Amino acid sequence: MKNQTKTNNLAGTIILGVTGSIAAYKALEITSRFRQKNFSVVVVMTEAAKKFVKPLSFETISQNPVASELFPKKREKELLHIGLAELADLVLIAPATANVIGKIANGIADDLLTSVVMATKAPILIAPAMNAGMWQNPIVQENIVKLKQLGYYFLEPEKGWLACGKEGQGRLVEPSKIVDEALALLLNKKDLAGKKVLITAGRTEEAIDPVRYISNRSSGKMGYAFAEVAQNRGAKVTLISGASSVTPPANIKIVWTKTTEEMRQAVFNLLPQADALIMSAAVADYRPKLSKDTKIKREEKKLVIELEPTSDIIKEAVSKKKKNTVVIGFALETENHLKNAKRKLKEKGMDLVVVNDISAFEGENSKVTLLSSSGEVEELPELPKKEVATKILDKLLKLFEGKEKL
Ligand code: CTP
Repeated sequence: MKNQTKTNNLAGTIILGVTGSIAAYKALEITSRFRQKNFSVVVVMTEAAKKFVKPLSFETISQNPVASELFPKKREKELLHIGLAELADLVLIAPATANVIGKIANGIADDLLTSVVMATKAPILIAPAMNAGMWQNPIVQENIVKLKQLGYYFLEPEKGWLACGKEGQGRLVEPSKIVDEALALLLNKKDLAGKKVLITAGRTEEAIDPVRYISNRSSGKMGYAFAEVAQNRGAKVTLISGASSVTPPANIKIVWTKTTEEMRQAVFNLLPQADALIMSAAVADYRPKLSKDTKIKREEKKLVIELEPTSDIIKEAVSKKKKNTVVIGFALETENHLKNAKRKLKEKGMDLVVVNDISAFEGENSKVTLLSSSGEVEELPELPKKEVATKILDKLLKLFEGKEKL
């Protein structure tokens, strides 16, 4: 096992989990492809996987012993789950059965592979393979949604001929694609390094009196997802947060604000240094003209509150920012989504607008369409908010490149 340490010149260490699917033989090609790219591969097989392919095949290709015992007789240190978990630059499970996905999603660690998964801090990529009926099973789908929300990456199986003799979705993605995705995960990890990204999140609140206020139902989840994903990708993130319904991500610099005016001030204090502004906060458009110092009493038969508009922060930011700062905003709509969003994109001068529906406000997922100032339109499927953030940050990278060419 000496060749497993991180001190040699290898590109990295992949822990390849192989589970009991007929597609297990395809993991041999995956192992070979990683070896050709100078990665060390430690294959962790479940008992069921060993019924499909012999460990010797993996040992020959990976040139490492196969690990499968949670308590190996020869207690080789590196083969214990904690050792393997620490060794991994990436844990890839391919093929992953419905069973292993279910175990991971429910915190079960009753064999070596699931124990490694539980202990590792490395990114985890899962490529499922199973019969179409199993794939469609709502429990399997629910487990996948849960894991995606927890930051696990998935390569969903393809449609085609399945070993059970039927056509359907369940085929393991081609080994070359799995390896490409794994490499992208390893290499793209820090693609926002050096970029200063200012993100607003949550909702602003405008006081009517010391007790009541005008606000909206934004949860803050989308903005927090941006902050977490951008920071993980190496960006220097400052989060300007209004009120929210969830706990903000740990280890991120947060400036707390309440009113639209406070959020505006915070944005303009930090905008001069920012390479990008992402305005995901749901900002109150109106505030009471007069906010009472004492509680408004019930005796008043009719209560009329006069409102005045707040500042449009993003519009003002576009007029004051440095030339190369990228500005991304949202358009929250209940009708005529694209038409309204196109108008906002133009009127506010954003580089990209993320169009979403009111239904995305409080939920875990969002289904958004991206409109860019260059006229591109991209409709994304419904995804967990962190994945939406990932896709939008991919766009941000392209927008940075575009600005550099100007
Ligand atoms: N926004 C802002 N300042 C405001 C209102 C909105 O910076 N006072 C930003 C939001 O953060 C979002 C974008 O503008 O990125 C669009 O917000 P949205 O609520 O969809 O649109 P509004 O401009 O408020 O227009 P309307 O309420 O008429 O839909």
